[in-house]
Amino acid sequence: MIGIFDSGVGGMTVARAVEQLLPGFPLLYLGDIARTPYGTKSARTITEYSVENSRFLVQNGAKIIVIACNSASSVATDRLRREFNIPIVEVITPAVEQAIARSRTGRIGVIGTRATIRSNIYEQKIHGQQPDYKVFSRACPLLVSLVEEGWTDKRETKMILRRYLHDLKNQQIDTLVLGCTHYPLLKHLIQPRMGKRVTLIDSSAATAHFLKNYLEKSPEFQPTASHDPSRNRYFVTDLTETAEHIASRIFGRNIQLLSI
Ligand code: DGL
Repeated sequence: MIGIFDSGVGGMTVARAVEQLLPGFPLLYLGDIARTPYGTKSARTITEYSVENSRFLVQNGAKIIVIACNSASSVATDRLRREFNIPIVEVITPAVEQAIARSRTGRIGVIGTRATIRSNIYEQKIHGQQPDYKVFSRACPLLVSLVEEGWTDKRETKMILRRYLHDLKNQQIDTLVLGCTHYPLLKHLIQPRMGKRVTLIDSSAATAHFLKNYLEKSPEFQPTASHDPSRNRYFVTDLTETAEHIASRIFGRNIQLLSI
């Protein structure tokens, strides 16, 4: 079973992409809605929450964990790899690989939470492979709350995005990494703001592809032909109507969230 966690509903964009690419693998999801957002918290707190989330997933049968959260991936991956004796997949490496593969000018923008941008992890990983590339980063701390609130089409959200993206627009980037798993839900606003020449890298889709490649090379993970994705379980640490509504929108079907 694949265990996936995030601070809230954003990681469901990863879960959905995984469900579509790997329908034969049972999924167990945990959204830590009671403690969202993570991106405004310290590395220490995010790491503690990530350990607790992983423990829940392992206790309920997960044999591999996907950290479907850039904030947790940037600060907690090493600790989770030390603490749990199963593969841990994070969302940053797959997004970096795609961004490098897609960029032609070597000018890459990254947007994410404060925790992710402060960690500098995207810049480090991009420069680790392409030292001459220019990386322009911008923290967008309000976006997670707007998504969790379901404000993905509001005028106010567009205004906030315009403000956040203003400087990046002037940097002549050709690739923009959506370095937060909540942001694919704002893609329809971000793409027109940046213009069609800028390629958006969705860390959710990139991670699902990365996971597929990984599982194909790992004989201990075998799909079950009879598995029905509607039997995947989606847990949250706080059950709210808004979360259920957003989850159903992400999956395009009715999702019944379970309270832990
Ligand atoms: N979706 C998460 C991320 O990718 C969480 C953001 C948050 O809780 O602040 O960073």
